[in-house]
Amino acid sequence: MRLPRESLAFAMSTAAQAVERVRAGQALPQALDVVFNQVQLTGASHAGTRGAVQDIAYRTLRGLGKAQAVLHELAARPPAPRIEALLTVALALLLEDSPAYTEFTIVDQAVRAAAADPKTSQARGMVNAILRRLQRERASLDMALADDVVAQWNYPSWWIEAVRDAWPDDWQHILQAGNVRPPLTLRVDAARVTVPDYLQQLASHALGGRQVGERAVRLDTPVPVTRIPGFAEGLVSVQDAGAQHAAALLDLQPGQRVLDACAAPGGKSGHILELAPVQLTALDSDAVRLRRIDENLARLGRSANVIAGDAGRPETWWDGQPFDRILADVPCSASGIVRRHPDIRWLRRPEDLPQLQAVQRRIVSALWTTLAPGGKLLYVTCSIFPTEGEQQARWFETHLQDAIRLQAPGQLLPQSGTPAEPVADPPAGAAHDAMGDHDGFYYALFQKRC
Ligand SMILES: C[S@@+](CC[C@H](N)C(=O)[O-])C[C@H]1O[C@@H](n2cnc3c(N)ncnc32)[C@H](O)[C@@H]1O
Repeated sequence: MRLPRESLAFAMSTAAQAVERVRAGQALPQALDVVFNQVQLTGASHAGTRGAVQDIAYRTLRGLGKAQAVLHELAARPPAPRIEALLTVALALLLEDSPAYTEFTIVDQAVRAAAADPKTSQARGMVNAILRRLQRERASLDMALADDVVAQWNYPSWWIEAVRDAWPDDWQHILQAGNVRPPLTLRVDAARVTVPDYLQQLASHALGGRQVGERAVRLDTPVPVTRIPGFAEGLVSVQDAGAQHAAALLDLQPGQRVLDACAAPGGKSGHILELAPVQLTALDSDAVRLRRIDENLARLGRSANVIAGDAGRPETWWDGQPFDRILADVPCSASGIVRRHPDIRWLRRPEDLPQLQAVQRRIVSALWTTLAPGGKLLYVTCSIFPTEGEQQARWFETHLQDAIRLQAPGQLLPQSGTPAEPVADPPAGAAHDAMGDHDGFYYALFQKRC
């Protein structure tokens, strides 16, 4: 039996292969790329099917904790990995609060998907039996799993504990925010168009949006960037409202030498260049990601000195001329952006946190030596863990020579789906701000004494 590519069964089966890869340790975007190549879903004509597969894989990872707990209750013994992945996909879709498909469709298509794959065809009866048991025993399963925090929150237990320890008053709100589908937020290039004028452009294209930050506009409904007016011309860029603080906090002046030290794919580099005509060096250690900086800046009609290098080893790329401003948007757990990347929580391990902390200290300590007296360095992570936030800022304050700590927002905890009002920047040090809907970030700003 061969499944039509446009069928839900095909999309579920393909998503299951990507989920299986994530369970084996691969990041979801890479897993999807591999699977799309394997099933020959490349090229523009398959964009719709790729979108459906992607959507199912993302939904599954948002509901993975509960789907696996239910599977554990319903399967007499652990199924083989491919069948487990298919069942996980089907269970996650069935268990959603607002399911995307009817129960009948999900069960029927999962059984078809199992039957079509030689690796799973013998297990199609089991797939049918398990999914139908869920339908019959839903209430008793809910009761059996009432105390299972992984099933309840859809995060690994160590992650839930870490968030609860760090934010005893906010942990539920934070976990919830990470389980919501993210909005599409734009950064408006205010040098080229005002936010009210851009909102009118959106309206003339039948797109609703509202201002959620000084230059941030959130679309009422996400659409492909090809449908966003002015995107191709660089009037707007896709950037979460929480990320839009970085360039503004740098206090940029024309002509300054500015280093964006962990720059790829160039979201914040573009913002820096929109704010002031500075001499920007955009550095990243990942040569492949580096290419995206060039692409992004070309779309904005701006340019920078883009170089590959390890920010922690300036002797390999620095020309010896001090920088006036440094943005250190360092590699981190990405725990503040899990609503966009639901695979991250399942891929990270608790031991990653001390390792990341050491990497961040190595990078910032090295960058500090390249900063001019009187210059400013902004430390940024998209994390909610204090080991990558306030603990780091305190360490920098005492270990970076001649460092003065300046006002900056500190920890921005993630917020999802809260009604937003047009606002200016949040007050410095506020744990929550009024923007209503943004990822989690940490910001600390330091100046070198003259
Ligand atoms: C949080 S992302 C940066 C996002 C980027 N600033 C933006 O706004 O688009 C962190 C980046 O750090 C890069 N990176 C990791 N280790 C690095 C190192 N030792 N030196 C320079 N870049 C590094 C990664 O390749 C990744 O692109």
